[in-house]
Amino acid sequence: MRLNQFEKFIITNGIRNFIQSHIETAKLAKLSPATEFETVLEIGAADGNGAQSIDKHFNVKNIFGYELDENLLHIARSRLEKTPQVQEKAYFAIGDAASLAFPDNSFDAAFSYGVLHHIPNWQEAVKDIARVSKKGSIFFVEEFYKALICNFFVQIFIKHPQSNRFNHQELLDVLEAEGYEIIHQGHFFNLSGRIIARKK
Ligand SMILES: C[S@@+](CC[C@H](N)C(=O)[O-])C[C@H]1O[C@@H](n2cnc3c(N)ncnc32)[C@H](O)[C@@H]1O
Repeated sequence: MRLNQFEKFIITNGIRNFIQSHIETAKLAKLSPATEFETVLEIGAADGNGAQSIDKHFNVKNIFGYELDENLLHIARSRLEKTPQVQEKAYFAIGDAASLAFPDNSFDAAFSYGVLHHIPNWQEAVKDIARVSKKGSIFFVEEFYKALICNFFVQIFIKHPQSNRFNHQELLDVLEAEGYEIIHQGHFFNLSGRIIARKK
């Protein structure tokens, strides 16, 4: 589901960019069993800050960003012109993360920063990420849960799918059902959570 203007502002401003790079991705790299990946997928790549953050904290050869909103991808492409060292390894495509246009076993790592709760059939997205991920690859997930996004006050400002939303345990269950072992997991009052999982 595409973001409304308010949420687009939230995810493209400097504060969000700083948090994603210096706090979230730094923490993921610290917790990860590996920091070198040849080929990386980022779903919901938005304005390209995720790709820059991944490149800053991990040693990666290629980053494939998959994004539903072409306006955001336009911002991402312009943004990466300012960091040629990331631009030369980043490839962006428009599409739905629940139906990835990549062959099986393509990626050594996948990142989803707050994306699954925007996808109506998020279980299909997890399944398809598992399909395109190699055995032993790492899936990094930062997520927001139904207790937060189905809250009346949040709904006033930000639009999310309201049915088939999930909590931390339900996300863990789907990851395990799709063949992931959980390496690290934690949540904040079931409002948001972080998971690092390895494809078995
Ligand atoms: C809450 S934003 C997070 C953006 C960015 N990852 C971040 O953390 O700042 C969710 C992103 O996922 C994208 N998105 C939503 N549904 C999607 C789908 N089905 N497939 C791919 N991207 C999707 C949105 O356009 C948006 O860029």
